[in-house]
Amino acid sequence: MTAIVLVLFLSVDWKKLCVWDVCFVDDMAFVIRSADTKDQACVHPILKLWPQSLKVLYAKKPLPLGCSSAGPDWVYVDNGTFRISEQVRKSHRQITCAFTPLVRLADDMTVIEGPTVPDMRDGWPITSDFFKANCQASDGSVRDHLISGIAYEDEVHERRPAPGQPDPAALPLNVLMFGFDSTSHMSWMRMLPRTHRYFTEALGGVVLDAYNVVGDATTQALLPMFTGFNGLELPEARRGHPGATQIDRYPWVWKRFRDAGYVTQWGEDGAKYGTFQYRLLGFKEQPVDHYMRPFYLEAERQYDRHYPYCLGSVPRHLNMLNWVREFFDMYPRMPKFSFAFHSELSHGYLNRLQLVDDDTEAFLRAMNASGYLDNTLLILMADHGARFSDVRQYVQGKYEERMPYMGLRFPASFERKYPEVMRHLRTNVNRLTTPYDIHATLLDILKYDSSVNLGNIRHRGISLLKEIPRERKCVDAGVDAHWCVCLAWEAVATNDTNVKAAASAVVRLMNELTDVRRQLCRILALVRVTSAVRYAASDSILRYRGSKDFDLREADLSGIMSVSKVLYQLTMVTTPGEGVFEATVTHDLNQKQFSVNATSISRINMYGEQPHCVAEELPHLRKFCYCVTQISG
Ligand SMILES: *[C@@H]1O[C@H](CO)[C@@H](O)[C@H](O)[C@H]1NC(C)=O
Ligand SMILES: *[C@@H]1O[C@H](CO)[C@@H](O)[C@H](O)[C@H]1NC(C)=O
Ligand SMILES: *[C@@H]1O[C@H](CO)[C@@H](O)[C@H](O)[C@H]1NC(C)=O
Ligand SMILES: *[C@@H]1O[C@H](CO)[C@@H](O)[C@H](O)[C@H]1NC(C)=O
Repeated sequence: MTAIVLVLFLSVDWKKLCVWDVCFVDDMAFVIRSADTKDQACVHPILKLWPQSLKVLYAKKPLPLGCSSAGPDWVYVDNGTFRISEQVRKSHRQITCAFTPLVRLADDMTVIEGPTVPDMRDGWPITSDFFKANCQASDGSVRDHLISGIAYEDEVHERRPAPGQPDPAALPLNVLMFGFDSTSHMSWMRMLPRTHRYFTEALGGVVLDAYNVVGDATTQALLPMFTGFNGLELPEARRGHPGATQIDRYPWVWKRFRDAGYVTQWGEDGAKYGTFQYRLLGFKEQPVDHYMRPFYLEAERQYDRHYPYCLGSVPRHLNMLNWVREFFDMYPRMPKFSFAFHSELSHGYLNRLQLVDDDTEAFLRAMNASGYLDNTLLILMADHGARFSDVRQYVQGKYEERMPYMGLRFPASFERKYPEVMRHLRTNVNRLTTPYDIHATLLDILKYDSSVNLGNIRHRGISLLKEIPRERKCVDAGVDAHWCVCLAWEAVATNDTNVKAAASAVVRLMNELTDVRRQLCRILALVRVTSAVRYAASDSILRYRGSKDFDLREADLSGIMSVSKVLYQLTMVTTPGEGVFEATVTHDLNQKQFSVNATSISRINMYGEQPHCVAEELPHLRKFCYCVTQISG
C-alpha cells in the first residue's frame, strides 16, 4: 500500500499539481522554480505568452504588405547573374537596362555610383553586389530598380585560410545568424509562431529561456556578441567624443572567421540608425566580404517611391533574406559566416512582425531543402525586447525587454557526432545566458575544446557548448542589476510577521478545502514554519526608466513603479499527522492580503494512509486530509 501511495504521490500529485509552479500575478506568470531550475542561483521568470495587459498593444491588425501592386520587377539576380524576367519580356518585348553599380566610398556614410553599363544583357555577371537597373521597353514603358545580390569575386573565391588556420579542433560549421530588432522571446513566439514552430519542432532548434541582455539597445547587444566586450571597455568611438575613432580595430569575431578561411557577410537595414553608425563612427574599411550597408544607404533615400516596406514588388524583409540565400548560393564549398538583422518592421511596432512569419518560415524551409543547414549553425535571434514606453509601463514589458529571442540549431549530423554539446546546450536553456556567451560560442566553433564540459564561472562569457554552471549569477555574467531578470530571493526569519501571516493563509486554505468532508477530516493547525524565502521582482528593474545619456550607457533609476507583489515560499509542519508542506503565498502589498492557491501547496513528506477515508472519493484532498479514524500500523 505504501509503495502504491508513493507512486501516486510522485507520478500524479507531484507532476500534475506543478509543485514548484507559482502564479505571480501582476498579470504575469512567474514560474519560480521547476525541477530544472531548483538548485540554480539565477531563476528567471517564465512569462505568459498572452498576458491580459499586453493584449491591447497587439490588438490592431496590421495591413498586409501590398508589394505586388507594383507589378512584377523586370530584373533580378540569380547567383551573381543579371537576369531580365522572361515573363516581363513577353509582355514588353525588347527590354534594355542600364546597369549602375553602387559602391561604398571612404567610410560607412557614403555610397557612390560607378560607371554605368548602358546595355546590360540577360545572363551577364553583375559587377557589384548592389546596383541600379534603369530599364526601358520597346513599347516605351520604363522601370527603375534597386537590386541586391552577391557578385562573383575571384579574390574571395580563391581566399585561403591564414597560415596555421583553421585550427585542427575547429568545428566544420557555417554560421548563419538572422534576427529581428526589438523582439522579445515572447513577442517572437506571438508574432512568428510558424517560424518558431518550424525552428524548434522540425529543425530541432533550442531556444534559450533565460537569455538576458547586458545593456541598453542594439549596440550593447551586438558589441558583446561580436567582440566579447561592452562599449565602455572598447576604444572610444562615440560621435562627438574627444579622441573617438572608427571601430575597425575592435576585435570583431568575423575577422577570426575570415582568418580561418570563412567568407563573411553582414547586413542590417535602417542605415540611418545603424548599430555602429548612429552613435558610433562606424567602419572606415568595409568590415566583411559582403556588406549591405551601401545598399540601404541608397535604398532608404528612395523608399518614398515604393509601397511601404517594399522595394518594387519585393517586400524588403524578403529582399534581405534573398540576399542571405544568394550568399549561400555563391559559395557552396567555402565556409560561411553570415549575420543579417532586420529592423524596420519590428522596431517601434509590436505587431507588424506577424507579416513576415510565412516568409521567414519559407526561407528556413528553403535553406534546409537546399542542404544549406546540413553543415550550418543557425542562430535566430533578437537584440532585446520592445523598448518603447507603451510596453515599458508594464512589469511584464520590463521583463520582456530584457529577454530577447535567442535560438541555436545545430545540424542533426552534428548531434550524432557531438552528443555532449547538444546535452550542454539543452541544459543551458534554463541557465542564465547572455550575448557574451554567444561570443564565446562563436570562438568555440573556431577551436572546440572537447576536454571541458563545465564552463568556468569566472569567465564572463561561457560557450553554450559547455554547461553553464548552476551557480552563475548576473554578477558573474556581466549583467548589471537593473538588466538582471533573475528573481531576487532572500531567506526570511521564520518568526517574521509576514511569514506567520503567510503560513496562516496556507493552513486556512487547507482547512477550507477539507470542509466538504469535515466529519471525516480533522482540522489542521500550524506547528512551525521550518524555512522561508521571499522572492520579489528586482527593485532596480522596476525603477529603471531608460538610459540617461545619449549613448545609452548610464541607467536612469528614477522610475516609480514599485514591487506590489511579493512571494513567500514556506516549508511548514502541521498537526495532527505531522504533515510537511511546501507552499508559495502571494503577498499583495497594496491590498495587504496573503493569498495562496491549492496548486502551489505540495506535501513533501509521505501521507501514507492518513487520508484513507477520502483517498478514493476525493483524491485531490489526500495531501490535506488527516482522517478522524486512522488505520493503526
Ligand atoms: C553559383 O555560382 C558559383 C560561382 O560561379 C558556383 O560555384 C556555384 O556552384 C553556383 N551556385 C549555384 C547554386 O548554382
Ligand atoms: C530538410 O530537407 C530535407 C531534404 O533536403 C528533407 O528530407 C527534410 O524533411 C527537411 N527537414 C525539414 C525539417 O524540413
Ligand atoms: C525572531 O527570532 C529571533 C531569534 O531566533 C529573535 O532575535 C527575534 O527577536 C525574533 N523576532 C520576532 C519578530 O519575534
Ligand atoms: C490556481 O492555479 C491554477 C493553475 O496555475 C489556475 O488555473 C487557477 O486559476 C488558480 N486559482 C486561483 C484562485 O488563483
